[in-house]
Amino acid sequence: MTSRHAQASCLLVCSANIRGIFIGKFIVTQAAGHTPSSKSFIVSPGSNLRGQMTVPGDKSMSHRSIMFGAIAEGVTEVSGFLEGEDSLYTLAAFQAVGVRIERGGPGEVSLHGLGIDALKAPSSDIYLGNSGTGMRLLTGLFAGLRVPCTLTGDGSLNGRPMRRVTDPLAQMGAHIGTTDTGTPPLVIGQSEKLQAIEYTCPMASAQVKSSVLLAGLHANGKTVVHEPAITRDHTERMLRGFGVDVSVSGLTSSIVGGQALTATSLRVPGDISSSAFFLVGAAMTPGSELLVKGVGMNPSRTGVIDILRLMGASIEVENLHETGGEPVADLRVTGSQLKGIAVPEELVSLAIDEFPALFVAAASATGTTVISGAEELRVKETDRIQVMADGLRALGADISDTPDGAVIVGKRLAGGIADSCGDHRTAMSFAMASMISDGPITVLDCANVNTSFPGFAQIAAAVGLNIEERE
Ligand code: S3P
Repeated sequence: MTSRHAQASCLLVCSANIRGIFIGKFIVTQAAGHTPSSKSFIVSPGSNLRGQMTVPGDKSMSHRSIMFGAIAEGVTEVSGFLEGEDSLYTLAAFQAVGVRIERGGPGEVSLHGLGIDALKAPSSDIYLGNSGTGMRLLTGLFAGLRVPCTLTGDGSLNGRPMRRVTDPLAQMGAHIGTTDTGTPPLVIGQSEKLQAIEYTCPMASAQVKSSVLLAGLHANGKTVVHEPAITRDHTERMLRGFGVDVSVSGLTSSIVGGQALTATSLRVPGDISSSAFFLVGAAMTPGSELLVKGVGMNPSRTGVIDILRLMGASIEVENLHETGGEPVADLRVTGSQLKGIAVPEELVSLAIDEFPALFVAAASATGTTVISGAEELRVKETDRIQVMADGLRALGADISDTPDGAVIVGKRLAGGIADSCGDHRTAMSFAMASMISDGPITVLDCANVNTSFPGFAQIAAAVGLNIEERE
């Protein structure tokens, strides 16, 4: 940690990494174990974003491509794979259970699938870094395959709730240990073959749905999952690409256990969640004209476009086509003054990862934006409601946080220091806030941007963001 960073950190309280416990009328705080990185972004005010760009491969699909290729029969070729830390930890996890995986050129991976019966127990704990998707999906898959192992992660991941997956998996017959508070490490023990269940998810979560479906892939009988709202359906679509029969009807998905996967070739499109920072940066600055090419347009992920359009943004979808069962397009954004809105709650689960960027869009808009029904943001890599509210307030925004969202009144920002608290998406969102700021912005603790968007600063600089990285 540099002395400048240490000094700035002392000035700020990273409340999202602090767990509050009420004892009488006092709040006792506990650090959740995140060690801040010394990497920061220094971003000078800018006026617009222009040109053409691409973003790295979709994180959700990259994880799944490794998981499914590893247990398929034959060799699966993946291109466009996200070489970010999260998905690389998933790749390493399958090497640890005996799968031969070769890396070719950038984004190219060949998986020599072992089928469903040949994975071996790893010789040591499997470390999954910052990745909730890696942890929750692997738990379902390994529990179903009866691969005993211990899954662990960094300070953020080891503070995240896991009973949302271990409870339904226990109903199927899995033995999975957590800490007393239901967090990792997760210890997957020996069990009999799992039994299918019919499960109603209490929260809208593709990770929970996928974990149960992946356990169901190897269970006796038909596993059925009901959801309270639409969540991303990459598991269902990609499993079909591997020849598995998955049924979907409305908010219910089901799978019959015992189906083998057949190796395939698949191309991972650009991550719409990574494009979101640029969609927001360009949409909220008059004079911007940006083309983001090759973005995944799965309808369960495009809420960010709908919300920005409701705020008055001009985003055109061009060159829409389909690759490997997923729609892909180029997005042309023309900047304008956005207006505040009440974000429709039915769009929340379709844009769940894009809210940090949308908070910044709201901070730029005329009038008031109300975000509600988004309490899941509090259990992401950080408590994203708290981190965005604290950081934007430190930059001069008018924002009040609520239990399930925020109320944001748009105005120009002054600039200053915003602590990302080690969350990749809050870090990139604060960097974009420089487009509506009169003074420079320092974003602290940015190393985890590499979990989802290696090369973010270089790509952003090429389209006009005045960004510098400091160690
Ligand atoms: C993901 C699902 C979402 C999302 C995460 C990736 C996935 O989490 O926030 O970044 O790949 O299934 P929840 O399902 O918990 O909302």
